[in-house]
Amino acid sequence: MKKRILTGLQPSGTLHIGNYFGSLKPLIDLMGQEDNEVLLMVADYHALTSLRDTAELKTNIYNIVRDYLAAGVDPKKVILFRQSDNQDHMELGWILNCLVTVPFLMQAHSYKDKVAKGLEPNAGLFTYPMLMAADITLYNTDIVPVGEDQRQHLEYTREAVTKFNNAYGKILKEPKELIVAGVGVVPGTDGQKMSKSYKNTIPFFGTHEETQKAVMSIVTDSSGDRPVNVYNIHNVIYRALGKSQDELDALYHEHAGKYKVLKDILVDDIEIVIGGMREKRAQITDDEIRHILKDGAARAKAISNTMMQKIRAAVGITL
Ligand code: ADP
Ligand code: TRP
Repeated sequence: MKKRILTGLQPSGTLHIGNYFGSLKPLIDLMGQEDNEVLLMVADYHALTSLRDTAELKTNIYNIVRDYLAAGVDPKKVILFRQSDNQDHMELGWILNCLVTVPFLMQAHSYKDKVAKGLEPNAGLFTYPMLMAADITLYNTDIVPVGEDQRQHLEYTREAVTKFNNAYGKILKEPKELIVAGVGVVPGTDGQKMSKSYKNTIPFFGTHEETQKAVMSIVTDSSGDRPVNVYNIHNVIYRALGKSQDELDALYHEHAGKYKVLKDILVDDIEIVIGGMREKRAQITDDEIRHILKDGAARAKAISNTMMQKIRAAVGITL
């Protein structure tokens, strides 16, 4: 039996280094293995919980697919599709909403954090975890590569699976998160978790100037020789370059106290990781993207339709 791997990213902003190392790269690494079937979803319905700008959403969808492809996602090996192209997500999401309680959803960290930040507590934001549970379980997913911040969403998914299976029989599969050690929480320029909403990101496909600006803004403190925040981000980049932590330690020892020099080296190293991908990205056309998404939608639906038939029969909404 092939293992199903699935992840999704919201087209709600610009892909950053944390997104790439936390979720996209682990998925790409699994893509090449023969006994895996890999799905990558543009979570555009989820993005509606925070984004209400028509043109921006549309542009973000094209951009995120361009990012995926440039970063190495091979659409022949991966089912690359848009959530909104498959209404099965909505249907199963609704069924799962009917199985969990309001107090349970109220405890979700992501909901509480967003409301604490002043985001409108719309009902979509509230039921977000059940749409995500539907995204995952519709495809009988085994493994979900994500960053640490999504761990609770996977717990919520398993809880929804238990509720469903207890009510209707063993139909949905319990997925597991894949959180890769060392990149589960990529730090941002201020040392907190890198996140669009903290405005502390280093864009993955920024221009050289944008990368430089972001790296120069990394907060350094004057205690000790080693700028910890620069070092921690550099550590992630060094792994991608196949270099060891010992080599990084040696570099920081050699340039002890010279923060500007270390930041310049970090900019150069990010360029080495991203440079080639950026060139590839510039060549991907909108037509190509539409074609890939159409093909991906058909392949995704072929899997989920079978699942939905079983679910409808179990629930009692077939005649
Ligand atoms: P953001 O926090 O910037 O809004 P998203 O919620 O869109 O990011 O995250 C998309 C994916 O990237 C998720 O799997 C998430 O866990 C992962 N991710 C986001 N930020 C980080 C980070 N700093 N380190 C590791 N993974 C991350
Ligand atoms: N909640 C995820 C995030 O904010 C995005 C997402 C939606 C997702 N559906 C998914 C991730 C299914 C993994 C699997 O990043």
